[in-house]
Amino acid sequence: MNKDEITNKTADFVKEIMSEESSGHDWWHIYRVWNLARKIAEKENANIFIVEMAALLHDVEDWKLKESLQTDGKVKEWFVKVNISEKEINEILHIIENISYKGANVAENPLTIEGKIVQDADRIDAIGAIGVARAFAYGGSKGRELYNPEIEPEMHNDFAAYKSSKGHTINHFYEKLLLLKDRMNTETAKQIAIKRHEFLITFLENFNKEWNLEDVN
Ligand code: ADP
Ligand code: NI
Repeated sequence: MNKDEITNKTADFVKEIMSEESSGHDWWHIYRVWNLARKIAEKENANIFIVEMAALLHDVEDWKLKESLQTDGKVKEWFVKVNISEKEINEILHIIENISYKGANVAENPLTIEGKIVQDADRIDAIGAIGVARAFAYGGSKGRELYNPEIEPEMHNDFAAYKSSKGHTINHFYEKLLLLKDRMNTETAKQIAIKRHEFLITFLENFNKEWNLEDVN
C-alpha cells in the first residue's frame, strides 16, 4: 500500500471505530480536523502522511492511554496491518499524546511541525459557529447548565482541576475557547482563528444582551 492508500484506509477504519463507540467524539469532528490539517499543511514544510494520520487518530480513545500501545489495542493492530514504521508510529503517538488543551495556566508541551498543524486544526474546530455548537453539545451530554451567573470562570493551574471542572458551558468559553486564538502555532491557522474568534465574541455579546433583556423594549 502506498501512503495515500494507508491514509484512506485509516480514515475508513477510524470512521468505523467512531460510529461503534459513540462516546462523545464523532467522526465528523475527525473529518473536519483532517481537512483543516491538510489545508494548513499546504503552507508548511511538513510530512503530510504524519499530519493526516495524526489528525485521523487524534481522538481514538485507545491512544489516550499510553499502555494501549504496549497492549493489543485496535489501533496498534491496525498499524501492524498497514505496516508503518516504528519511527512513524512514534511520531504519530507523540502528537496525539501532546496536543490536548490542559487548562489556562498549564504549559504546553513542545510539538513537531506536524504536531503543531494537527493541534491548530483541532483547536480551530473548537471555535467559531462549530465550536459554539460543540461546546453546548458537550455541556448537554454532561447535564450542564447553559449559563449560571453565580459561577465564575476559573483559570486552571493543572489538568486535573480543568478536567474535573463542573461549570456551566458559558464558562468554558472563558476557560478555553477564547484563549485558543493566541495559542495558534501556524500563520495560516492564526488567520482562520481571528475570524472564528470574532464569532465567539459576537455570540457572547448577544447571549448577554438577551440574558439581561437588553434587546427588549
Ligand atoms: P478536542 O477534540 O479539541 O481534543 P475535547 O475532547 O477536549 O476536545 O472536547 C470536545 C469538544 O467539547 C470541544 O469542542 C471542546 O471545546 C468541548 N468541551 C470540552 N470540555 C468542555 C466543557 N467543560 N464544556 C463545554 N464544552 C467542552
Ligand atoms: Ni479533537
